[in-house]
Parts: sequence; structure tokens; C-alpha cells
Amino acid sequence: MTSSSDAVGGTEAGRLDPIDEVVVVGTGFVGLPLALLLAERGKRVVGVDIDENLVDAINDGTLNLDEDRLQALLDSEGVNENLVARTTPTDGDAFVISVPTPLAEKTKSPQLAHVEGAVESILPHLEAGDLINVESTIPPLTCEQVIVPLLEDAGFAVGEDVQLAHSPERILPGNVFEEIVNNDRVIGGADDASRRRAAMIYEPFLEGEIYYTDLLSAELCKLLENTYRDINIAIANEFALIGDALGVDMNDVIDLANHHPRVDILTPGIGVGGHCLPVDPWFLNEATPEYTDLITTARRINERMPEVTAGKVRRAVADLSDPRILALGATYKPDTYDLRNSAAVTVVEDLDADGYDVVHYDRYADEVGYDDLAALIDRESPDVVLQLVPHGESVAELDELRPSLESEGIRVLQFGTGNPVDPEPQPELEPEPEPSP
Ligand SMILES: NC(=O)c1ccc[n+]([C@@H]2O[C@H](COP(=O)([O-])OP(=O)(O)OC[C@H]3O[C@@H](n4cnc5c(N)ncnc54)[C@H](O)[C@@H]3O)[C@@H](O)[C@H]2O)c1
Repeated sequence: MTSSSDAVGGTEAGRLDPIDEVVVVGTGFVGLPLALLLAERGKRVVGVDIDENLVDAINDGTLNLDEDRLQALLDSEGVNENLVARTTPTDGDAFVISVPTPLAEKTKSPQLAHVEGAVESILPHLEAGDLINVESTIPPLTCEQVIVPLLEDAGFAVGEDVQLAHSPERILPGNVFEEIVNNDRVIGGADDASRRRAAMIYEPFLEGEIYYTDLLSAELCKLLENTYRDINIAIANEFALIGDALGVDMNDVIDLANHHPRVDILTPGIGVGGHCLPVDPWFLNEATPEYTDLITTARRINERMPEVTAGKVRRAVADLSDPRILALGATYKPDTYDLRNSAAVTVVEDLDADGYDVVHYDRYADEVGYDDLAALIDRESPDVVLQLVPHGESVAELDELRPSLESEGIRVLQFGTGNPVDPEPQPELEPEPEPSP
């Protein structure tokens, strides 16, 4: 680990107590990889989760992880020796909070019940000198207005009795091992000692740089990152819609525009899913609704894309009677196994609700997995193969099969690699009147 040269922390000489035992509260996508890495590097780790099946699977070694390197960690001697999972917290030197922060479905308001529950659950085990480090993505001012009061009500003065830090996670499901080790981290702290002590949690494995800041800036930083990406995708999607209206494949135009040295437009798609982008912009909206016009408009554009995609599919198969559609790709983006908030699932639900005969598979998602595309096509006998998520491997496989499928009369529609459907037919223009002689 290296600290940034212009970092706020790290310049004061105050000695910090070592962190030997880490209690990770919430051992899901974010918490478990951290728990595994720390245990493998020799820290004593307690992984706490309210999901008993998950706790049992971690302790029995029967958990199946989607990434080979994470699975190897889970099966390692260090993890066997140093990690124990439980449904309730124990004492420790540092408590990492990595529980969900979902939105209320209708109001889009952040729900902090898991964070509050996690903090309350550690209170009986908290002792003077302990550190609480929040990794969950949280709305602005959550540390100051929710977590600090919970600690104070229990008799702990932050900065005097206990330390408080916020180090939001940036990992990408599908590339977790690589990113948790190599990504730079932003650590906000209630004070300098809090943030420097939080950095000690990551010391055993971190290769990226650490940038230190205050709690609110760390909360905002994570939200800015994801909101920026969401807006960039929304403008790419809006460009694609303009392209549809004008009869132009906007993917090609975006490629051309990105040759400008200061332009980097992301890729249009069938919608934005996952655990972060469809959620985090609403946290900013909750805090300052008067300044989130662009942010909420972008969200709505991205939320509309699955419906737009289903419409394109309908148009592309309109001449077929009762077509059987084999939809490929169910994850929220290519080359991941994560199905959460997936636009591909919404597209299929939309077509399904409309009465189309759709079967849905994804080579990376166990729930709907398959091994061999040719065998799958033989088994399902589709009239249409619809690629919704362009996993590198599936695209290559489908590109290879495409000529033979088309020669058998199977229609292939590939979203995510060029424009699969002709843009909407444009109204015929009235012929120019002949100039009068
Ligand atoms: N998944 C990602 O790619 C990602 C990336 C960056 C940040 N985040 C953020 O990290 C946080 C956690 O996300 P995740 O993807 O790991 O969620 P997750 O649902 O995969 O895991 C969270 C775990 O916390 C457990 N839990 C809930 N309440 C608890 C409690 N009171 N005590 C103990 N365990 C409890 C759940 O049972 C679950 O296993 C969220 O704020 C999320 O926005 C996620």
C-alpha cells in the first residue's frame, strides 16, 4: 500500500493501535471478499451476517463463489484458520459495516435500516479505542446525522472514545479480487486518527493508493462516481434514440466522436442495472432535490431503456407468427454474473407479459446457466436468438454460429454489438414538386 503524497493523513506522528481482529458486518458481495483477504493475510476475522445459510456455508466451506481467485481464497489455509462466520457480532479492534443500502421502491428514498441495525448490533461489543469503518454506500451526512448519534446515545464520543471512518467500496462484480487489491481507496474520517487507523485495515493487501478526506466528502465521492457514470450512459442512450429517429447507427458515430481527445461517451445499451448506478443517484436527490434535475432526468432515460429495447424486439419479429425467442444474457452488464436490477431481465419480463414465448439463459449466471450454445439452440429450437448482454465469450460464440443459424432461418438479433434492429422506418418524404417550366 502507498499513501498519496498529497494525502491529508499520514503526516502526523501519532501512534495508532494495531488492528488484529476485524469484525465484518455483512458478508455479501462487498464484505466477504474483504473478510477473505484479511483472513488469508493472517488477521483474525469474524464475518457477521443475518443470513444463517450464508454463515453456515462460509463455516462449512460449502459456499460457491463465482470468481476462481475468491474461491481459492475461501479454500485457503489462512481463511480456514482465521475466519469464522457468525450471525451476531463479537468483540474486535475494528468493525467494518458492509450491509445493503437499498431504496424504497416507490419513493426512491434510501433505506438505512440495515446500517442502523448493523451499528446497533455492534454497540454491546464496542470498547474504547475501537474503530468503526463504513464501507456501505450511504447518503450524504449519514455518518454525522445517523451513525454518530447512535454511538453517542450508547455513550461513545466519536474521536475521543471510538474512531469512525467511511471507506466506500468500488469493486466490480466479476473482477472483485483484482479491484479490491488494486483500486485506489478514498477514506474519510471523523478525524485524522480515524482515517489513518482505517487505512490499517487495508494495509495487508492493498496495492492501490489511499486518498484521505473527511466523512461527508467520502460519502459524496462515491455518489459522484456512480452518478457521473449513470449520466454518461444516459446521454449515450439519448444519442442512440436520436440515431434511431434519424436512421443512423449511433454506436458508429459515438466511436467517431470518441476520437476527440477530450470526449469519452460511454456505450448505449438496453438499460442500466446492478447494485449501484440505478440506486446511488437517488441518494443525492434525497439530500438536495432542488439541484438534481439532470441527475433524475438521466435516471429516467436509463429506466426507460428496457421498454425501448422490448419495443425494438417486437418490431423486429413482427412478421413472424408466434415466434419462440431464445434470449441470451441475464446479468446487469457484460462479463459479470450479477443479476441484480438487470435490464435484460426486465426486457424478457416485458416480452413475456406481452405473450411472447421467451426462454432466457446466461452462460455466467448459475440460475439460468448453459455450457454449450449450439446444444442449447438445438434443445430450445428458437425462431429468434436475441443477444441482450454482450458477454465477450457469448458474442464470439454467437458470431461463429450466426451464418449457420441464419441459413436455417433462425433470426439473430444482437444488442450491445452494433444496432440489432433497423431504426424505425421513417415516414416517406413528399416528393419535391417539379419546378414549373
Ligand atoms: N455489490 C457491489 O458491487 C457494490 C460495490 C460498491 C459498493 N456497494 C455497496 O456496499 C454495500 C453492500 O452491498 P453488497 O453488494 O455487498 O450487498 P449484499 O446484499 O451482497 O450483502 C450484504 C449482506 O449484509 C447482510 N446484512 C444485512 N443486514 C445486516 C445486519 N444488520 N447485520 C449483519 N448482516 C446484515 C445481508 O444478509 C447480506 O448478506 C451497499 O451499500 C452497496 O451499495 C456494493
